[in-house]
Amino acid sequence: VTKTLALAAALVGLVAACSTAYQTQSAEILPKEPSAQRQRQVTSVTQLYRENCANCHGSAGQGGGAGTSTLLTADLYRQEHDRPFFDAIKKGVPDMAMPSFGEVLSDAEIWGLVVHVRELQARALSDTLRAPRPQNGVVKTQRHTYRIETVVDRGLGLQIPWAVDWLPDGRMIVTNRPGQVFVVLDGKPGQPVQGIPEVAHVGQGGMMEVAVHPDYTRNGWIYLAYNEPQSEGSRSGMTKVVRGKIRFEGETHRWVDQQTIFEADRATYSPAGVHFGSRIVFDGQGHLFFSIGDRGAMQHSQDLSRPNGKVFRVREDGSIPSDNPFVGRADALGQIWSYGHRNPQGLVFGLDGNLWSTEHAPRGGDELNVVERAANYGWPVVSFGINYNDTPFRTPWPPEASDITMPVYRWIPSTGVCGLAVATGPAFPNWKGDLLAGGLAGQNIDRIRIENGKIVEFEEIFFGQGRVRDVKTAPDGTIYVVLNDPDKVVRLVPAD
Ligand code: HEC
Repeated sequence: VTKTLALAAALVGLVAACSTAYQTQSAEILPKEPSAQRQRQVTSVTQLYRENCANCHGSAGQGGGAGTSTLLTADLYRQEHDRPFFDAIKKGVPDMAMPSFGEVLSDAEIWGLVVHVRELQARALSDTLRAPRPQNGVVKTQRHTYRIETVVDRGLGLQIPWAVDWLPDGRMIVTNRPGQVFVVLDGKPGQPVQGIPEVAHVGQGGMMEVAVHPDYTRNGWIYLAYNEPQSEGSRSGMTKVVRGKIRFEGETHRWVDQQTIFEADRATYSPAGVHFGSRIVFDGQGHLFFSIGDRGAMQHSQDLSRPNGKVFRVREDGSIPSDNPFVGRADALGQIWSYGHRNPQGLVFGLDGNLWSTEHAPRGGDELNVVERAANYGWPVVSFGINYNDTPFRTPWPPEASDITMPVYRWIPSTGVCGLAVATGPAFPNWKGDLLAGGLAGQNIDRIRIENGKIVEFEEIFFGQGRVRDVKTAPDGTIYVVLNDPDKVVRLVPAD
């Protein structure tokens, strides 16, 4: 073990030595890693809770000891309590016999306990937080009643479908993560489009996003984002964006005229099977935005010379707009629009004109962000999450004098956010402008209404049909949901 740790330390040193000045700078604001000695003693937050809190607050947060009342109420579950909870644990509540833990527990451990309390609350409140179950095939939510209609059924050739988009004539394009693209007509995928670029289907990566140019009728462009292998057959890859056209020759569909829109330096390609991004959206003013995750190398999210953990903005032909924030800096990629992301797998322009993203984080740290020019979203300096193995990670709050932008919302527990849409109105007028955020592990869609930067409504509207990979509003306003396990595409149609 010591040998492995020494080797790991040497590698970290090597990476640090090779990094740019920028990265060194940001490394300084990273909290100090616990020493190897301490790392081996790290206790799970469940154990911390059991040892320090359960005697008063009860094993599940139900209260009862030392005059405590229950922590398991809808009011205390609201995210506004994050900081007060943290402060109560750190400093104590002197008037109420709540001891302070600031001297015996680190800030990361204290935040880990807040996450633990959130997990206990979510478990206890799950009946009230869940979307209503379908009754006679319809689901009655607060503002709309809908029916779930199958668009492409399981068994018809979909295999880990990732994304959908539409041609102006209503035909739907769907991607399969292992590497196929289909055109769907009347619920039936045609033959896979021929000549699609080879993908490295490794872990979470493969063929991912498809986005039809808003002016397709005039120019025929279709954009794809996928994990490009470093060389033919290689398992090492990086998210790449291309555009091309589908030539329809009877039953045969052929990918032609391909152009590269974004391709990272080969040195950044990685065999890691995690965190590829990627969604593509158009701003209607000649640009497209797309995302790449940290690829498991979290420190790279703060390094502007690398593509990891960024949202990008390029012109529709891939060229770099001269008004991008980091253009002209020798230590930065000119395509970068914002940084400090972990794995943005949802991206959409709201009806309010904001660019919204959902980011898949570790346990209890999924985020909803407004993506702003040059902004730093903090990963991995700060995070609302803890490690998947239940040990503490960091705190959500930036060190003083840092420029980190906080999320508008954080999911604790995580739903595994993936796919983000905005309800545009036609089919579901009472949802117009609301964000619809899908969740993989959560198997759900949350509807989020935001006014003046504040969340005014939050409701789970869809649950339990499968892992939600993508959510997209069709031109007619119906809500399409790309499901994995079972692999199919369904849509929500109004039944009010
Ligand atoms: C000696 C008993 C005792 C212990 C031990 C204790 N607490 Fe408390 N705690 C209280 C009391 C009493 C209050 C105030 C009354 C209430 O909120 O029920 C309180 C309040 C809180 C609150 C604020 C709740 C609110 O309404 O704002 C949180 C959060 C909390 N405790 C978490 C913890 C955690 C986590 C631990 C373990 C690290 C812990 N407490 C340990 C007794 C205790």
